[in-house]
Order: sequence, then C-alpha cells, then structure tokens
Amino acid sequence: MCTFFTYLHSYLIPRSLILLFLLITPFVVLSFYLGLLGLSEGLINVSELNRLTWRSTNDSLSLHMITGSVLTSIAPLQFLRSRFQKARVLHRVLGYIVVSLAFLTCIGGIIYIVIHGTRGGLWMNMGFGIYGAFLVLSAFFVVYYARKENLRLHEEWGLRFILLSLGSWFYRVCYGVLIFIDPTCPGHTIDFRGPFDFFMNFAFYLLPLLFLEIYLRVYKMSDTQYRLWIFTLNFFLFIGTYGFYKVLI
Ligand code: HEM
Repeated sequence: MCTFFTYLHSYLIPRSLILLFLLITPFVVLSFYLGLLGLSEGLINVSELNRLTWRSTNDSLSLHMITGSVLTSIAPLQFLRSRFQKARVLHRVLGYIVVSLAFLTCIGGIIYIVIHGTRGGLWMNMGFGIYGAFLVLSAFFVVYYARKENLRLHEEWGLRFILLSLGSWFYRVCYGVLIFIDPTCPGHTIDFRGPFDFFMNFAFYLLPLLFLEIYLRVYKMSDTQYRLWIFTLNFFLFIGTYGFYKVLI
C-alpha cells in the first residue's frame, strides 16, 4: 500500500507529465494562436464566437485565450518536487506567475460572460462563471497555505488548482470522447444547449474535483489499483484528444 502523495511523486508525475504535455500541446498552441488572431483581427474573423460585439469584449476573450494557454502549459510543472534549492525558487516564481495568469484568465472570461454572454446561454454562463470562481478560489488558497507554511494544505489546494487549470482542455477532451464514440454527437446542439452540453457546463471541472476529493479523503489503494486507474484515465484522455483533433484537422 502507498499513500496518494507518495504514489503521485514517485510514479505518476514523472511518467505522466511527458504524456500530458504531448496531449495538451496542440490545444495550447491553438488557443494561443486564436487569441493572437482575435486581438489583431477581432474574434469575428477567428472563431465561431462570431457575433457583432464590442471590441473590448472581443479583446478580453482573446486575451483570456492567450493567458489561459500559458496557464494550461505551465501549471502542471508545479507538480514537480525537488530537493534542490534552485528548483524551489523556480517553483515559487512559477507559482506566482501561474496564479497571476489564472486571475487574468478568469477576469477575461468573466467580462465576456457579463457583457456578452456565452453561446450556450444561462446554463453555460453559470457553469463557466462558477468554473472561473473556483479557479480564483483555489489560486487564493494555494498562495495562502504556502505563506502559512502549511505544506499539506498547500499541496491539496495545489492539486485542485492544477486540475482546474487543465479544465478548459479537459472540456474539449470530453467532447472528443463523444465524437470518438459517435461522430453525430448525440446530446450536443450547435448552440450548446443539448443535454450533453448541459452536463458538460459543470462536469468538466466538478468531475475531476470529485475524483480528487475521493482520492484525498476516502481511498487507500494498492499500487496495482492506482496503475489501473491511471491507465484508464490516460486511455480516456488519449481517445478524447484524438476525437477532438480529428474534427479540427
Ligand atoms: C484555463 C485556461 C483556459 C483556456 C486555455 C481557455 C481557452 C478558451 C478558448 C480557446 C475558447 C474558445 C474560443 C472559440 O470558440 O473560438 C474559450 C472560450 C471561453 N472561455 Fe476560456 N479558457 C480558459 C479558462 C477559462 C476560464 C477560467 C473561464 C471563466 C471565467 C473561461 C471562460 C470562457 C468563456 C465564457 C468562453 C466563451 C464560451 C462560448 O461562448 O462558447 N475560460 N476559452
């Protein structure tokens, strides 16, 4: 038997981080590129978020794509733990950078929701709004417990923060799984108001958080059980990534 954190640092992180980076990179590049294009040409020429709207609303969402893509790519690095002092300094510096990026990303997203509203309407506004609030809350507590030198709680909140930072990518992965299973996408409508869309408005961050809470509080697993879980998770992520990029390419 091993504890969750022992397993996390000795097995899961070093091996899975490389795979994770391979999986998130196309989304990160796409989001960054869309953001830059949105800033220079206006979102109207760039994405399906194609409405006549105020320039400031467009720019806030474009900026949020840029800060969000950098956040998604560097937040998982905070998983890494090292005994070397230089790495600790790097962890601290990167920590403040990712927390600031999280705040900026949320501000951009919330401005868009409040002024313009999402294409999915009220439920999507609520789902994404709560997501933004959770991300800000977790960023706040990561820093709070780090400064209080409560490392156990800092690490727990750090895990929540990293999962939430990956939320936007995970949202696309879940749609990718649906596309992989059935390319007609049952439950999804073009205006994101189908039953699957409704579920996804909240599930893309609540489900990962729920699993994390179960891991942290309830389960003590054997190495084999952990490996089985991780294999299943990687399989899900791989299928979802494949399904999502099949649509784009
Ligand atoms: C964590 C990193 C994040 C990344 C990389 C990211 C990236 C993106 C991208 C690429 C889009 C799609 C634009 C399009 O369809 O052309 C988008 C849409 C959106 N994001 Fe984010 N995002 C992130 C976090 C957030 C957060 C925390 C919020 C909430 C405050 C948020 C709110 C929104 C909203 C409201 C939309 C428009 C939804 C719609 O009407 O379809 N995002 N984001």
